[in-house]
Amino acid sequence: MASSDQILALIKSHLSGDDERFRLIAEQIAATESKAGHKTVSSSIKHELSSKPGIVAKLRRVNPINAELAEMVLEVDKSYVIQDLISPESVLEKVKRIVREFHHKEKLAEFRLQNRRKILLAGPSGTGKTMTASVIANEIRMPLYIVLMEKVITKFMGETSLKLSKIFDLIAQSPGVYLFDEFDAIGTQRGLENEVGEQRRILNSFLQFMERDESDSIIISATNSVESLDKALFRRFDEVINYQLPTTQEIENLVLRQMEGFLPKSICLDSIIPLFEKMSHAEITLVCRDVMKESLLMNKPVDYELISSIVSQRFLAYAN
Ligand SMILES: Nc1ncnc2c1ncn2[C@@H]1O[C@H](COP(=O)(O)OP(=O)(O)OP(=O)(O)O)[C@@H](O)[C@H]1O
Ligand SMILES: [Mg+2]
Repeated sequence: MASSDQILALIKSHLSGDDERFRLIAEQIAATESKAGHKTVSSSIKHELSSKPGIVAKLRRVNPINAELAEMVLEVDKSYVIQDLISPESVLEKVKRIVREFHHKEKLAEFRLQNRRKILLAGPSGTGKTMTASVIANEIRMPLYIVLMEKVITKFMGETSLKLSKIFDLIAQSPGVYLFDEFDAIGTQRGLENEVGEQRRILNSFLQFMERDESDSIIISATNSVESLDKALFRRFDEVINYQLPTTQEIENLVLRQMEGFLPKSICLDSIIPLFEKMSHAEITLVCRDVMKESLLMNKPVDYELISSIVSQRFLAYAN
């Protein structure tokens, strides 16, 4: 029989829309049933899984907009809720405040106050910036759009400015959460030696568009390298949220959440948590998924040896 942990993990993965985890756990239940001699149940689970292909990441073109905008802006599925975000309380509080102010924007407006809606997210790769945009969009029930900066910034200032103006028209016309990912592309520090006037003009152009914007949309800029950003930029945003690599406690929470239903009760967390030190949330998530797959397909127990071998394989891959 599937354990209560497995059933709980299955329900949670379904509710959070995490298809990959849902399938992993379902496969594990099929394996457990098969081992217990319940071959019919096991093959029924496998049959159900194979009859419905996995939900492929759904990237839709923004609709209804013209072909030029469709090149630059993607609507993405937003499956995360705030409980999925494993971050310090200070970060979670800021995210909740953005959501709360959005829900009460009319009340704020009565007193000529505006909800926080121009946000800068800064921190290392894989620490939850894109995830936060998804959480905010989900919590305020608005579509999430990702602006592809590499499609916006061209060699020609006039052209870039025109593209930005079209995007800001869209922001005004189609309320949503707009994520300018890799904002560094335009936000690099002004006055650097190798800096060309062109880049500064693009950045200024972006800031002017953002300043003029009075739409209902939430505009989020995300960057990996806060150091390279001109600090003068910060005051243009209503909120700046800094992300860090996970603390030991956060690693533990993440590992327990990711491998729920897979970790044997006997496992010594104090010995496995240090294996994940210095990794980002995204890397830890990937390692946990690899561990679950390896355990499932190779019929190996989830233990220190398996986890440390997957971690070393990952680091070897980086070294090459
Ligand atoms: N704080 C977090 N809590 C829980 N899971 C996380 C967190 N951060 C990242 N993850 C996991 O890693 C995946 C990738 O994270 P995300 O795309 O949000 O990183 P990012 O900060 O935007 O990175 P990048 O700077 O490379 O764009 C998420 O989909 C999630 O599975
Ligand atoms: Mg991101």
